[in-house]
Amino acid sequence: MDLIYCDQAATSFPKPPQVVEAVCRALTETSASGGRSAHRMSLTAARLIFEAREAVADLLGAEDSSRIAFTYNVTQALNMVLLGLLKPGDHVLTSSMEHNSVMRPLGWLAQERKVAVEVVPSPATGLLDPAEFKKRLTDKTRLAVINHASNVTGAISPLNELKTAMGQTPLLVDAAQTAGALPLNVKNGPADILAFTGHKSMLGPTGTGGVWISPDINVEPLFRGGTGSRSEIEEHPDFMPDRLEAGTQNTHGLAGLAAGVKFILATKVEKIRDHELLLTRRFLNGLTNIKGVTVYGPSDADSRVAVVSINLLGWSPSDLAHVLDREFGIMTRAGLHCAPRAHRTIKTFPQGTVRFSFGFFNTDAEIDAILSALDELSRRAE
Ligand SMILES: Cc1ncc(COP(=O)(O)O)c(C=O)c1O
Repeated sequence: MDLIYCDQAATSFPKPPQVVEAVCRALTETSASGGRSAHRMSLTAARLIFEAREAVADLLGAEDSSRIAFTYNVTQALNMVLLGLLKPGDHVLTSSMEHNSVMRPLGWLAQERKVAVEVVPSPATGLLDPAEFKKRLTDKTRLAVINHASNVTGAISPLNELKTAMGQTPLLVDAAQTAGALPLNVKNGPADILAFTGHKSMLGPTGTGGVWISPDINVEPLFRGGTGSRSEIEEHPDFMPDRLEAGTQNTHGLAGLAAGVKFILATKVEKIRDHELLLTRRFLNGLTNIKGVTVYGPSDADSRVAVVSINLLGWSPSDLAHVLDREFGIMTRAGLHCAPRAHRTIKTFPQGTVRFSFGFFNTDAEIDAILSALDELSRRAE
């Protein structure tokens, strides 16, 4: 049985061969601590990290790569920013379509630090309305935090309109589903802070991620410790990126991330987007011919990343995903996708949906095979 991986929104697979090679090479040739010692292997490791930072800066359109701090995933980046910015009495706006990586730290901040967290409800389509944010702004609003695209419906958020509505209030963008999948250019806004994860559309290994922070924002570090810089002082360095990078880096992972991002830059994000758009359109069109399918989120492919959540009449999401995997070799994700409030919003709580997510290496033939499997299963439920 040919296997079809369409769980790209969780983690991308396969990785380009260059990524595998870069990780192997770093492990075999550069297993030193970057920026800590002066010997050649440590310098090579430091260079690998620098190359990764420069490559990510290119992908995000950032002028100064030192404004990018690496973390081990976007969850850590989001926690770092939320906990490092929000103080007692601050007001923060977010949407009802956010991932637990945003909702759980915000919940903790509300409870433990008395931060006023206001969740702006989205309609059942999942698409947020910037006007709803604007009318909730107060003089205490310190931040708005929003995903660039939903990991449940794939809907792309209207970030420019949101930024206009927010005025001077900084916008923290969770780009977990878009970095590497959609063209980004932080130089021209709308994000003031953009958090990314390396192992999804950026095609890197797990254990990589980070955040770009605009030069006029200072985030208080969550961790303090060794950086290899200013070792003579007791205090943690206050300059970026060391300010937000304590402890030994994931050098091998970052070597892989650099290779993944270089692959994207050489291929061009626009080409990747076009391919994923065609796959998504083919899938959405095909679903209209299958009895009993409910598709969530925007009806047109252009308004979403390559993420499509569905339900099939007569099947629970978990049973459907199980049979797709066991009988057809089709790997999806079923359930709540770490975003329970998003499922309440689109009225699929608590059972959730089956999520299909596609990437650059998925093919038309795979989409057709998935459609044919779903068609067969829709008849089986009759
Ligand atoms: C929108 C969104 N935010 C945050 C995350 C968390 O990503 P990670 O597990 O890489 O921290 C995900 C991953 O599923 C996501 O889709």
